[in-house]
Amino acid sequence: MNHPQEGVVYGYSELTYVSTAGPPPYPPPPPPLPPPRRRLSPFRILIRAFIGALSLLIWLIYRPRTIRVAVATAILAGFDLNTTASSFSFTPVLSYNLTAVVEIWNPNRRVSVYYDRLQASGIYQGERFGWAPLPVSFQGTRRADAAPAVLVGRSPAYVNADAFGEDSRVGVFPVELCVEGVVTREVQVRRADHHQGEHADGKCLLALKLMVASGWVDCTVIDF
Ligand SMILES: *[C@@H]1O[C@H](CO)[C@@H](O)[C@H](O)[C@H]1NC(C)=O
Ligand SMILES: *[C@@H]1O[C@H](CO)[C@@H](O)[C@H](O)[C@H]1NC(C)=O
Repeated sequence: MNHPQEGVVYGYSELTYVSTAGPPPYPPPPPPLPPPRRRLSPFRILIRAFIGALSLLIWLIYRPRTIRVAVATAILAGFDLNTTASSFSFTPVLSYNLTAVVEIWNPNRRVSVYYDRLQASGIYQGERFGWAPLPVSFQGTRRADAAPAVLVGRSPAYVNADAFGEDSRVGVFPVELCVEGVVTREVQVRRADHHQGEHADGKCLLALKLMVASGWVDCTVIDF
């Protein structure tokens, strides 16, 4: 007596399930078998350690080291701000005469460096006031070059006249020299391995007194 009733109830609930939630659920797939463990023999471990040590050694020998940039000396022979508005513009005009000797050093034993569009620009109060190309296009291994950069001229610059007056009174102008270029490294293995040229940036923070040659200043190099 009980059995048929149970059967009816079961059939009814199955029917409602089908009508509301689509096809009946399939049984879940069996859990995947764990992958068979491969045991590493001591010989295999030794081979892997050897390959690892060899790659580390090769990387240590051939890894390109960062190019170094410094300002060996710099002299600010003139720095003047003209705030008198001209008939052309109201922007103050900055006259400058800055000579810097930029030292560029490739410390690598096996990596030569090609430079493209290498230049130095002067920045004061965040304003770029002039630039000069640096005559260095290639550096062999472990080589240092001193490149002169002469920034002379006058250019409109949004310089704050009060801050300029204050720097003038103190007698020290915080000038940033920015060395930029595209650097292509060439690793000297049996077959020369060219690396893609990448943009490089060196920032040299100078504190310049008029007509006083500055000492050595190391630059912060980014991306070199
Ligand atoms: C810039 O300064 C140098 C001295 O460092 C001087 O010989 C040269 O005449 C100056 N140039 C200008 C345009 O003032
Ligand atoms: C400053 O600029 C104005 C307008 O360009 C010019 O007339 C004046 O001679 C300049 N002053 C100096 C000291 O160069």
